[in-house]
Amino acid sequence: MKHVVIIGSGISGMACAVRCAEEGIHVTLVSPFPSERSQSVMAAGGINAVLSEDSSGDSVECHIQDTLTGGCRLGGVKAVTGLCENAGKILRQLEGIGTVFSVDREGRLLRRAFGGQSYKRTCYCGASTGKQIVSALVMEVRRHEAQGLIRRRLWCCFHSALIRDGVCYGVLLFDETSGGLDAVYADAVVIATGGQNTLFGKTTGSTQCDGYAAGKLFMQGAELKNLEFIQYHPTTLETAQKCMLVTEAARGEGGRLFVRKDGRNVYFMEEKYGQRGNLMTRDIISREIDALGDTAFLDVSFLGKSVIDKRLSELRDLCAKYGEIDITREPIPVRPAVHFFMGGLAVHLNHETRIRNLFAVGECASMYHGANRLGGNSLLAALYSGNVAANAIAGRENRQTAPPDFSGETEREKHRLLQHRDTQSRFPVMYIRDLLAETMRKHMGIVRNETDLAQGLKDIDYYLSIAGKIRYDSSVMPYFNYSLPAILILARAAVACALSRRESRGAHYRSDYPETEKAYQSATVISYDGGKYSIRLDEERAYES
Ligand code: FUM
Repeated sequence: MKHVVIIGSGISGMACAVRCAEEGIHVTLVSPFPSERSQSVMAAGGINAVLSEDSSGDSVECHIQDTLTGGCRLGGVKAVTGLCENAGKILRQLEGIGTVFSVDREGRLLRRAFGGQSYKRTCYCGASTGKQIVSALVMEVRRHEAQGLIRRRLWCCFHSALIRDGVCYGVLLFDETSGGLDAVYADAVVIATGGQNTLFGKTTGSTQCDGYAAGKLFMQGAELKNLEFIQYHPTTLETAQKCMLVTEAARGEGGRLFVRKDGRNVYFMEEKYGQRGNLMTRDIISREIDALGDTAFLDVSFLGKSVIDKRLSELRDLCAKYGEIDITREPIPVRPAVHFFMGGLAVHLNHETRIRNLFAVGECASMYHGANRLGGNSLLAALYSGNVAANAIAGRENRQTAPPDFSGETEREKHRLLQHRDTQSRFPVMYIRDLLAETMRKHMGIVRNETDLAQGLKDIDYYLSIAGKIRYDSSVMPYFNYSLPAILILARAAVACALSRRESRGAHYRSDYPETEKAYQSATVISYDGGKYSIRLDEERAYES
Protein backbone atom coordinates (compact mmCIF):
# COMPACT_ATOMS: atom_id res chain seq x y z
CA MET A 1 0.00 0.00 0.00
CA LYS A 2 1.18 3.52 -0.79
CA HIS A 3 2.72 5.45 2.08
CA VAL A 4 3.13 9.23 2.30
CA VAL A 5 4.99 11.24 4.91
CA ILE A 6 3.58 14.71 5.49
CA ILE A 7 5.71 17.17 7.42
CA GLY A 8 3.52 19.71 9.18
CA SER A 9 0.03 19.28 10.58
CA GLY A 10 -1.55 22.69 10.05
CA ILE A 11 -4.39 23.17 7.59
CA SER A 12 -2.49 22.34 4.38
CA GLY A 13 -0.86 19.24 5.92
CA MET A 14 -4.13 17.96 7.35
CA ALA A 15 -6.04 18.69 4.12
CA CYS A 16 -3.44 16.63 2.24
CA ALA A 17 -3.53 13.84 4.84
CA VAL A 18 -7.31 13.55 4.78
CA ARG A 19 -7.47 13.53 0.98
CA CYS A 20 -4.72 10.87 0.83
CA ALA A 21 -6.58 8.75 3.39
CA GLU A 22 -9.78 9.06 1.35
CA GLU A 23 -7.79 7.50 -1.50
CA GLY A 24 -6.69 4.64 0.76
CA ILE A 25 -3.13 5.91 1.11
CA HIS A 26 -1.31 5.39 4.40
CA VAL A 27 -0.14 8.66 5.90
CA THR A 28 2.42 9.50 8.55
CA LEU A 29 1.61 13.02 9.72
CA VAL A 30 4.64 14.55 11.41
CA SER A 31 4.85 17.65 13.57
CA PRO A 32 6.59 18.92 16.68
CA PHE A 33 3.26 20.13 18.12
CA PRO A 34 -0.40 19.17 17.85
CA SER A 35 -2.41 20.77 15.01
CA GLU A 36 -4.24 22.86 17.58
CA ARG A 37 -0.99 24.74 18.11
CA SER A 38 -0.18 25.25 14.44
CA GLN A 39 -0.04 28.71 12.96
CA SER A 40 -3.23 27.91 11.06
CA VAL A 41 -5.29 28.59 14.19
CA MET A 42 -4.18 32.21 14.03
CA ALA A 43 -5.82 32.82 10.65
CA ALA A 44 -8.45 35.36 11.51
CA GLY A 45 -10.17 36.96 8.58
CA GLY A 46 -11.68 34.30 6.34
CA ILE A 47 -11.61 32.35 3.11
CA ASN A 48 -12.51 33.58 -0.36
CA ALA A 49 -15.05 31.69 -2.44
CA VAL A 50 -17.58 32.52 -5.12
CA LEU A 51 -20.59 30.23 -4.89
CA SER A 52 -23.03 29.48 -7.68
CA GLU A 53 -25.91 30.99 -5.73
CA ASP A 54 -24.13 34.33 -5.21
CA SER A 55 -26.34 37.20 -6.30
CA SER A 56 -23.86 40.00 -5.71
CA GLY A 57 -22.65 40.02 -9.32
CA ASP A 58 -19.38 38.39 -8.28
CA SER A 59 -17.97 35.60 -10.43
CA VAL A 60 -15.16 33.05 -10.39
CA GLU A 61 -13.58 34.97 -13.29
CA CYS A 62 -13.57 38.12 -11.17
CA HIS A 63 -11.91 36.24 -8.28
CA ILE A 64 -9.26 35.00 -10.73
CA GLN A 65 -8.62 38.49 -12.07
CA ASP A 66 -8.43 40.06 -8.59
CA THR A 67 -5.93 37.40 -7.52
CA LEU A 68 -3.75 37.88 -10.61
CA THR A 69 -3.91 41.67 -10.41
CA GLY A 70 -3.21 41.66 -6.64
CA GLY A 71 -0.20 39.43 -7.37
CA CYS A 72 1.07 41.90 -10.02
CA ARG A 73 0.81 39.28 -12.77
CA LEU A 74 3.32 36.87 -11.23
CA GLY A 75 0.79 34.27 -10.11
CA GLY A 76 0.42 31.54 -12.73
CA VAL A 77 -2.86 31.82 -14.67
CA LYS A 78 -3.53 28.06 -14.71
CA ALA A 79 -2.80 27.68 -11.02
CA VAL A 80 -4.91 30.66 -10.00
CA THR A 81 -7.77 29.49 -12.23
CA GLY A 82 -7.75 26.08 -10.51
CA LEU A 83 -7.64 27.73 -7.10
CA CYS A 84 -10.60 30.02 -7.71
CA GLU A 85 -12.68 27.48 -9.65
CA ASN A 86 -12.43 25.03 -6.75
CA ALA A 87 -13.09 27.54 -3.96
CA GLY A 88 -16.86 26.94 -3.83
CA LYS A 89 -16.39 23.18 -3.64
CA ILE A 90 -13.82 23.55 -0.86
CA LEU A 91 -16.14 25.79 1.12
CA ARG A 92 -18.96 23.27 0.86
CA GLN A 93 -16.58 20.48 1.94
CA LEU A 94 -15.60 22.52 4.98
CA GLU A 95 -19.24 22.97 5.90
CA GLY A 96 -19.70 19.24 5.34
CA ILE A 97 -17.07 18.37 7.93
CA GLY A 98 -18.51 20.75 10.49
CA THR A 99 -16.90 24.15 10.01
CA VAL A 100 -19.40 26.65 11.31
CA PHE A 101 -19.40 29.79 9.16
CA SER A 102 -21.12 33.04 10.12
CA VAL A 103 -24.56 33.26 8.46
CA ASP A 104 -27.47 35.69 8.37
CA ARG A 105 -30.95 34.99 9.79
CA GLU A 106 -31.87 33.08 6.62
CA GLY A 107 -28.79 30.91 6.96
CA ARG A 108 -26.95 32.54 4.06
CA LEU A 109 -23.19 32.86 4.39
CA LEU A 110 -22.04 36.31 5.45
CA ARG A 111 -19.28 37.95 3.38
CA ARG A 112 -16.60 40.44 4.21
CA ALA A 113 -14.88 43.01 2.01
CA PHE A 114 -11.15 42.33 1.97
CA GLY A 115 -8.36 44.35 0.37
CA GLY A 116 -7.88 44.31 -3.39
CA GLN A 117 -11.16 42.52 -4.08
CA SER A 118 -13.98 43.78 -6.28
CA TYR A 119 -16.75 42.18 -4.22
CA LYS A 120 -17.47 41.10 -0.67
CA ARG A 121 -16.24 37.55 -1.16
CA THR A 122 -14.60 36.47 2.08
CA CYS A 123 -16.58 33.93 4.11
CA TYR A 124 -15.69 33.80 7.78
CA CYS A 125 -16.32 32.34 11.21
CA GLY A 126 -16.32 35.48 13.35
CA ALA A 127 -12.63 36.37 13.49
CA SER A 128 -11.46 32.82 14.17
CA THR A 129 -11.84 31.15 10.80
CA GLY A 130 -8.54 29.29 11.03
CA LYS A 131 -9.42 27.86 14.42
CA GLN A 132 -12.79 26.55 13.19
CA ILE A 133 -11.24 24.92 10.13
CA VAL A 134 -8.47 23.34 12.22
CA SER A 135 -11.07 21.88 14.63
CA ALA A 136 -13.06 20.35 11.79
CA LEU A 137 -9.97 18.90 10.08
CA VAL A 138 -8.61 17.47 13.34
CA MET A 139 -11.82 15.48 13.67
CA GLU A 140 -11.38 14.15 10.12
CA VAL A 141 -7.77 13.22 10.81
CA ARG A 142 -8.86 11.36 13.96
CA ARG A 143 -11.54 9.53 12.03
CA HIS A 144 -8.96 8.24 9.53
CA GLU A 145 -6.53 7.56 12.35
CA ALA A 146 -9.11 5.31 13.97
CA GLN A 147 -9.31 3.39 10.69
CA GLY A 148 -5.54 2.98 10.68
CA LEU A 149 -4.91 5.15 7.63
CA ILE A 150 -3.32 8.13 9.31
CA ARG A 151 -0.63 7.83 11.95
CA ARG A 152 0.28 11.02 13.78
CA ARG A 153 3.87 11.37 14.90
CA LEU A 154 4.01 14.20 17.39
CA TRP A 155 7.15 15.74 18.92
CA CYS A 156 9.07 14.97 15.74
CA CYS A 157 10.93 17.46 13.58
CA PHE A 158 12.05 17.24 9.98
CA HIS A 159 15.80 16.77 9.66
CA SER A 160 16.42 16.13 5.94
CA ALA A 161 15.09 14.31 2.93
CA LEU A 162 16.44 11.00 1.63
CA ILE A 163 17.27 11.92 -1.95
CA ARG A 164 19.20 9.98 -4.57
CA ASP A 165 19.60 11.04 -8.23
CA GLY A 166 16.80 13.61 -8.08
CA VAL A 167 14.28 11.26 -6.47
CA CYS A 168 13.00 11.47 -2.88
CA TYR A 169 12.58 8.22 -0.98
CA GLY A 170 11.68 9.46 2.49
CA VAL A 171 12.94 11.58 5.36
CA LEU A 172 15.12 11.63 8.40
CA LEU A 173 13.14 12.71 11.44
CA PHE A 174 14.46 13.97 14.72
CA ASP A 175 12.37 12.48 17.54
CA GLU A 176 12.40 14.82 20.53
CA THR A 177 11.24 12.14 22.93
CA SER A 178 14.00 9.65 22.14
CA GLY A 179 16.56 12.24 21.05
CA GLY A 180 17.34 10.09 18.02
CA LEU A 181 17.13 10.24 14.24
CA ASP A 182 14.77 7.89 12.38
CA ALA A 183 14.80 7.14 8.67
CA VAL A 184 11.23 6.87 7.36
CA TYR A 185 10.81 5.61 3.81
CA ALA A 186 7.80 6.65 1.75
CA ASP A 187 6.41 6.73 -1.78
CA ALA A 188 6.08 10.50 -1.48
CA VAL A 189 6.98 13.25 0.97
CA VAL A 190 4.87 16.38 1.36
CA ILE A 191 6.30 19.46 3.06
CA ALA A 192 3.64 21.60 4.77
CA THR A 193 5.70 23.64 7.18
CA GLY A 194 4.31 27.15 6.61
CA GLY A 195 6.26 30.37 6.26
CA GLN A 196 9.64 31.70 7.32
CA ASN A 197 8.82 33.84 10.36
CA THR A 198 12.05 33.13 12.24
CA LEU A 199 13.93 35.07 9.59
CA PHE A 200 12.30 38.22 10.97
CA GLY A 201 11.77 37.35 14.64
CA LYS A 202 8.65 39.30 15.56
CA THR A 203 5.88 38.77 13.00
CA THR A 204 2.12 38.16 13.08
CA GLY A 205 2.81 34.43 12.82
CA SER A 206 4.31 31.61 14.81
CA THR A 207 8.06 31.15 15.31
CA GLN A 208 7.42 27.44 14.78
CA CYS A 209 7.32 28.38 11.10
CA ASP A 210 11.03 28.97 10.71
CA GLY A 211 11.67 28.11 7.07
CA TYR A 212 14.10 25.34 8.03
CA ALA A 213 12.60 22.68 5.79
CA ALA A 214 12.62 25.02 2.77
CA GLY A 215 16.23 26.00 3.51
CA LYS A 216 17.38 22.42 4.01
CA LEU A 217 15.67 21.16 0.86
CA PHE A 218 17.21 24.07 -1.06
CA MET A 219 20.59 22.80 0.13
CA GLN A 220 19.54 19.33 -0.99
CA GLY A 221 18.67 20.39 -4.54
CA ALA A 222 15.12 21.81 -4.54
CA GLU A 223 14.70 25.29 -6.02
CA LEU A 224 13.13 28.28 -4.30
CA LYS A 225 10.95 30.89 -5.97
CA ASN A 226 9.96 34.54 -5.41
CA LEU A 227 11.66 34.81 -2.03
CA GLU A 228 11.85 38.61 -2.28
CA PHE A 229 8.07 38.95 -2.00
CA ILE A 230 7.36 39.22 1.71
CA GLN A 231 4.01 40.59 2.77
CA TYR A 232 3.89 43.23 5.47
CA HIS A 233 0.38 43.34 6.93
CA PRO A 234 -0.39 47.03 7.38
CA THR A 235 -2.24 46.79 10.67
CA THR A 236 -0.69 45.03 13.65
CA LEU A 237 -0.54 45.88 17.33
CA GLU A 238 2.97 45.55 18.66
CA THR A 239 3.59 43.88 22.00
CA ALA A 240 6.88 42.83 23.60
CA GLN A 241 6.83 39.38 21.96
CA LYS A 242 4.72 39.74 18.85
CA CYS A 243 3.00 41.87 16.32
CA MET A 244 -0.63 40.94 16.94
CA LEU A 245 -2.76 40.86 13.82
CA VAL A 246 -5.37 43.60 13.67
CA THR A 247 -7.48 41.81 11.12
CA GLU A 248 -8.27 43.37 7.77
CA ALA A 249 -11.84 42.45 8.64
CA ALA A 250 -11.84 45.63 10.76
CA ARG A 251 -11.35 47.70 7.62
CA GLY A 252 -13.68 45.38 5.72
CA GLU A 253 -16.38 46.36 8.21
CA GLY A 254 -15.63 50.04 7.59
CA GLY A 255 -12.64 50.80 9.86
CA ARG A 256 -10.68 53.93 8.88
CA LEU A 257 -6.95 54.62 9.02
CA PHE A 258 -5.75 58.04 10.08
CA VAL A 259 -2.73 59.93 11.33
CA ARG A 260 -2.77 62.89 13.74
CA LYS A 261 -1.41 66.06 12.14
CA ASP A 262 -1.51 69.52 13.68
CA GLY A 263 -4.25 68.50 16.05
CA ARG A 264 -6.55 66.98 13.42
CA ASN A 265 -7.14 63.48 12.07
CA VAL A 266 -5.93 63.01 8.50
CA TYR A 267 -7.51 60.00 6.74
CA PHE A 268 -4.47 59.55 4.54
CA MET A 269 -5.63 56.46 2.61
CA GLU A 270 -9.01 57.97 1.72
CA GLU A 271 -7.40 61.30 0.77
CA LYS A 272 -5.04 59.60 -1.64
CA TYR A 273 -7.06 56.66 -2.96
CA GLY A 274 -10.71 57.65 -2.46
CA GLN A 275 -13.50 55.69 -0.88
CA ARG A 276 -11.78 52.28 -1.07
CA GLY A 277 -8.52 53.67 0.28
CA ASN A 278 -8.65 51.61 3.48
CA LEU A 279 -9.01 48.45 1.43
CA MET A 280 -6.18 48.90 -1.02
CA THR A 281 -3.86 45.89 -1.25
CA ARG A 282 -1.58 45.31 1.75
CA ASP A 283 1.64 46.31 -0.04
CA ILE A 284 0.23 49.75 -0.87
CA ILE A 285 -1.16 50.48 2.60
CA SER A 286 2.01 49.25 4.31
CA ARG A 287 4.13 51.56 2.17
CA GLU A 288 1.83 54.52 2.88
CA ILE A 289 2.03 53.90 6.64
CA ASP A 290 5.80 53.45 6.42
CA ALA A 291 6.11 56.77 4.62
CA LEU A 292 4.11 58.66 7.29
CA GLY A 293 7.01 58.58 9.71
CA ASP A 294 4.38 58.85 12.43
CA THR A 295 1.98 56.51 14.24
CA ALA A 296 -1.02 55.44 12.21
CA PHE A 297 -4.30 54.68 13.93
CA LEU A 298 -7.23 52.51 12.97
CA ASP A 299 -10.64 53.64 14.13
CA VAL A 300 -13.62 51.31 14.37
CA SER A 301 -15.29 52.99 17.34
CA PHE A 302 -17.89 54.73 15.14
CA LEU A 303 -19.25 51.30 14.08
CA GLY A 304 -20.83 51.12 17.52
CA LYS A 305 -20.67 48.57 20.29
CA SER A 306 -23.27 46.20 18.89
CA VAL A 307 -21.55 45.83 15.48
CA ILE A 308 -18.16 45.43 17.17
CA ASP A 309 -19.52 42.86 19.63
CA LYS A 310 -21.11 40.90 16.82
CA ARG A 311 -18.49 41.07 14.07
CA LEU A 312 -15.19 42.02 15.67
CA SER A 313 -15.38 40.52 19.12
CA GLU A 314 -12.00 38.74 18.85
CA LEU A 315 -10.32 41.99 17.84
CA ARG A 316 -12.09 43.78 20.71
CA ASP A 317 -10.72 41.19 23.16
CA LEU A 318 -7.24 41.16 21.68
CA CYS A 319 -6.88 44.94 21.90
CA ALA A 320 -8.24 44.97 25.45
CA LYS A 321 -5.97 42.15 26.55
CA TYR A 322 -2.71 43.13 24.85
CA GLY A 323 -3.03 46.90 24.47
CA GLU A 324 -5.56 47.91 27.13
CA ILE A 325 -7.51 49.57 24.35
CA ASP A 326 -11.29 49.75 24.28
CA ILE A 327 -11.94 49.75 20.55
CA THR A 328 -15.55 50.83 21.05
CA ARG A 329 -14.19 54.13 22.34
CA GLU A 330 -10.65 54.70 21.09
CA PRO A 331 -8.50 54.09 18.00
CA ILE A 332 -5.86 51.36 17.74
CA PRO A 333 -2.23 52.37 17.08
CA VAL A 334 -1.13 50.16 14.20
CA ARG A 335 2.08 49.41 12.34
CA PRO A 336 2.98 47.10 9.46
CA ALA A 337 4.69 43.79 10.27
CA VAL A 338 5.75 40.69 8.36
CA HIS A 339 2.68 38.50 7.83
CA PHE A 340 3.09 36.16 4.85
CA PHE A 341 5.73 34.79 2.50
CA MET A 342 4.64 34.64 -1.12
CA GLY A 343 7.93 32.90 -1.92
CA GLY A 344 8.98 29.39 -0.97
CA LEU A 345 9.71 26.03 -2.55
CA ALA A 346 9.27 26.15 -6.33
CA VAL A 347 6.59 23.64 -7.32
CA HIS A 348 4.85 22.57 -10.52
CA LEU A 349 1.07 22.74 -10.93
CA ASN A 350 0.71 19.40 -9.11
CA HIS A 351 2.77 20.83 -6.22
CA GLU A 352 5.78 18.62 -6.86
CA THR A 353 9.22 20.21 -6.56
CA ARG A 354 11.89 19.47 -9.14
CA ILE A 355 12.81 16.48 -6.94
CA ARG A 356 10.54 13.63 -7.90
CA ASN A 357 8.12 12.50 -5.17
CA LEU A 358 8.89 15.58 -3.06
CA PHE A 359 5.87 17.89 -2.80
CA ALA A 360 5.23 21.17 -1.00
CA VAL A 361 1.86 22.67 -0.04
CA GLY A 362 0.53 25.69 1.83
CA GLU A 363 2.67 28.72 2.62
CA CYS A 364 6.00 26.91 2.24
CA ALA A 365 5.28 26.50 -1.49
CA SER A 366 5.27 29.42 -3.91
CA MET A 367 2.43 29.16 -6.39
CA TYR A 368 -0.70 31.36 -6.39
CA HIS A 369 0.04 34.72 -4.85
CA GLY A 370 2.68 36.23 -7.13
CA ALA A 371 4.10 39.47 -5.76
CA ASN A 372 1.35 40.04 -3.20
CA ARG A 373 -1.34 37.84 -1.66
CA LEU A 374 -4.94 38.91 -1.25
CA GLY A 375 -6.46 38.49 2.22
CA GLY A 376 -8.67 35.39 2.37
CA ASN A 377 -6.66 33.54 -0.29
CA SER A 378 -4.22 31.83 2.06
CA LEU A 379 -6.67 29.49 3.78
CA LEU A 380 -8.07 28.70 0.36
CA ALA A 381 -4.61 27.97 -1.08
CA ALA A 382 -3.67 25.84 1.95
CA LEU A 383 -6.69 23.59 1.46
CA TYR A 384 -6.56 23.52 -2.32
CA SER A 385 -2.82 22.79 -2.54
CA GLY A 386 -3.19 19.95 0.00
CA ASN A 387 -5.85 18.40 -2.20
CA VAL A 388 -3.88 18.90 -5.42
CA ALA A 389 -0.77 17.19 -4.03
CA ALA A 390 -2.81 14.31 -2.62
CA ASN A 391 -4.57 13.78 -5.96
CA ALA A 392 -1.24 13.78 -7.79
CA ILE A 393 0.19 11.20 -5.37
CA ALA A 394 -2.93 9.05 -5.62
CA GLY A 395 -2.61 9.06 -9.41
CA ARG A 396 0.95 7.71 -9.32
CA GLU A 397 1.90 4.10 -9.89
CA ASN A 398 3.17 2.36 -6.77
CA ARG A 399 6.94 2.31 -6.56
CA GLN A 400 8.16 -0.90 -8.16
CA THR A 401 11.66 -1.13 -6.74
CA ALA A 402 13.09 -1.07 -3.22
CA PRO A 403 14.57 2.27 -2.13
CA PRO A 404 18.34 2.64 -2.27
CA ASP A 405 20.36 2.11 0.87
CA PHE A 406 20.61 5.32 2.92
CA SER A 407 22.16 3.72 5.99
CA GLY A 408 25.51 5.47 5.39
CA GLU A 409 23.93 8.96 5.36
CA THR A 410 21.69 8.10 8.30
CA GLU A 411 24.59 6.93 10.45
CA ARG A 412 26.66 9.98 9.52
CA GLU A 413 23.86 12.37 10.55
CA LYS A 414 23.21 10.44 13.76
CA HIS A 415 26.87 10.70 14.63
CA ARG A 416 26.90 14.44 13.90
CA LEU A 417 23.91 14.99 16.11
CA LEU A 418 25.45 13.14 19.04
CA GLN A 419 28.99 14.35 18.56
CA HIS A 420 29.12 17.37 20.81
CA ARG A 421 26.13 16.91 23.06
CA ASP A 422 27.88 18.28 26.11
CA THR A 423 29.60 21.25 24.54
CA GLN A 424 28.37 24.70 25.50
CA SER A 425 29.04 26.86 22.45
CA ARG A 426 30.75 30.24 22.58
CA PHE A 427 28.15 31.35 20.03
CA PRO A 428 24.63 30.81 21.35
CA VAL A 429 22.29 29.73 18.59
CA MET A 430 19.46 31.97 19.75
CA TYR A 431 21.76 34.97 19.70
CA ILE A 432 22.58 34.34 16.04
CA ARG A 433 18.88 33.92 15.25
CA ASP A 434 18.23 37.30 16.89
CA LEU A 435 21.03 38.92 14.92
CA LEU A 436 19.60 37.49 11.71
CA ALA A 437 16.14 38.86 12.51
CA GLU A 438 17.63 42.29 13.15
CA THR A 439 19.42 42.21 9.82
CA MET A 440 16.33 41.09 7.94
CA ARG A 441 14.11 43.74 9.52
CA LYS A 442 16.68 46.41 8.74
CA HIS A 443 17.61 45.44 5.20
CA MET A 444 14.57 43.51 3.90
CA GLY A 445 11.95 45.98 5.06
CA ILE A 446 9.05 47.58 3.22
CA VAL A 447 11.38 49.86 1.23
CA ARG A 448 14.72 48.44 0.06
CA ASN A 449 17.78 49.58 -1.86
CA GLU A 450 21.00 48.16 -3.23
CA THR A 451 23.27 49.43 -0.45
CA ASP A 452 21.10 48.03 2.35
CA LEU A 453 20.59 44.71 0.62
CA ALA A 454 24.30 44.32 -0.05
CA GLN A 455 24.96 45.02 3.64
CA GLY A 456 22.32 42.40 4.50
CA LEU A 457 24.22 39.82 2.46
CA LYS A 458 27.49 40.69 4.21
CA ASP A 459 25.85 40.39 7.64
CA ILE A 460 24.41 36.98 6.83
CA ASP A 461 27.71 35.75 5.41
CA TYR A 462 29.26 36.69 8.72
CA TYR A 463 26.58 34.81 10.69
CA LEU A 464 27.15 31.81 8.45
CA SER A 465 30.84 31.91 9.23
CA ILE A 466 30.05 31.97 12.98
CA ALA A 467 27.47 29.22 12.60
CA GLY A 468 30.19 27.09 11.00
CA LYS A 469 32.17 27.38 14.23
CA ILE A 470 29.35 26.31 16.54
CA ARG A 471 30.20 22.94 17.92
CA TYR A 472 27.09 22.37 19.93
CA ASP A 473 24.94 24.75 21.94
CA SER A 474 23.66 22.53 24.71
CA SER A 475 21.51 25.32 26.12
CA VAL A 476 18.95 24.70 23.37
CA MET A 477 17.14 21.69 21.91
CA PRO A 478 19.12 19.78 19.24
CA TYR A 479 16.69 21.00 16.58
CA PHE A 480 17.86 24.59 17.04
CA ASN A 481 21.46 23.52 16.49
CA TYR A 482 21.03 21.57 13.32
CA SER A 483 18.48 23.97 11.81
CA LEU A 484 20.58 27.13 12.04
CA PRO A 485 22.77 26.85 8.90
CA ALA A 486 19.79 26.12 6.62
CA ILE A 487 17.82 29.04 8.07
CA LEU A 488 20.77 31.36 7.42
CA ILE A 489 21.16 30.02 3.88
CA LEU A 490 17.45 30.58 3.22
CA ALA A 491 17.75 34.16 4.48
CA ARG A 492 20.79 34.72 2.30
CA ALA A 493 18.89 33.42 -0.72
CA ALA A 494 16.00 35.81 0.00
CA VAL A 495 18.28 38.84 0.20
CA ALA A 496 20.10 37.76 -2.97
CA CYS A 497 16.76 37.53 -4.81
CA ALA A 498 15.73 40.99 -3.57
CA LEU A 499 19.06 42.35 -4.75
CA SER A 500 18.66 40.78 -8.18
CA ARG A 501 15.14 42.17 -8.81
CA ARG A 502 15.93 45.68 -9.96
CA GLU A 503 12.37 46.96 -10.10
CA SER A 504 9.42 47.49 -7.77
CA ARG A 505 6.50 45.10 -7.88
CA GLY A 506 3.92 44.23 -5.23
CA ALA A 507 5.54 43.63 -1.88
CA HIS A 508 9.05 44.20 -3.27
CA TYR A 509 9.70 47.94 -3.34
CA ARG A 510 13.11 49.32 -4.30
CA SER A 511 13.62 53.05 -3.74
CA ASP A 512 16.47 52.89 -6.27
CA TYR A 513 14.26 51.17 -8.88
CA PRO A 514 10.75 52.48 -8.13
CA GLU A 515 9.14 51.46 -11.46
CA THR A 516 7.64 48.10 -12.43
CA GLU A 517 9.61 46.77 -15.42
CA LYS A 518 8.29 44.45 -18.11
CA ALA A 519 11.65 42.72 -18.22
CA TYR A 520 10.97 41.39 -14.72
CA GLN A 521 7.50 40.00 -15.30
CA SER A 522 8.66 36.51 -14.32
CA ALA A 523 9.24 34.60 -11.14
CA THR A 524 12.70 34.64 -9.57
CA VAL A 525 14.08 31.13 -9.18
CA ILE A 526 17.16 30.40 -7.08
CA SER A 527 19.15 27.20 -6.79
CA TYR A 528 22.09 26.14 -4.63
CA ASP A 529 25.01 23.92 -5.36
CA GLY A 530 27.72 23.37 -2.77
CA GLY A 531 27.70 26.95 -1.51
CA LYS A 532 27.03 28.56 -4.91
CA TYR A 533 23.73 30.40 -5.40
CA SER A 534 22.35 30.79 -8.96
CA ILE A 535 19.44 33.09 -9.71
CA ARG A 536 17.37 33.22 -12.91
CA LEU A 537 14.08 34.68 -14.05
CA ASP A 538 11.67 31.89 -14.95
CA GLU A 539 10.84 33.39 -18.34
CA GLU A 540 9.79 30.03 -19.71
CA ARG A 541 7.35 29.76 -16.79
CA ALA A 542 8.65 26.24 -16.27
CA TYR A 543 7.02 26.10 -12.84
CA GLU A 544 3.59 26.89 -14.25
CA SER A 545 3.14 23.48 -15.82
O1 FUM B 1 -6.19 40.47 8.22
C1 FUM B 1 -6.49 39.28 8.23
O2 FUM B 1 -7.48 38.83 8.81
C2 FUM B 1 -5.63 38.36 7.47
C3 FUM B 1 -6.14 37.49 6.65
C4 FUM B 1 -5.28 36.83 5.67
O3 FUM B 1 -4.06 37.05 5.70
O4 FUM B 1 -5.79 36.09 4.82
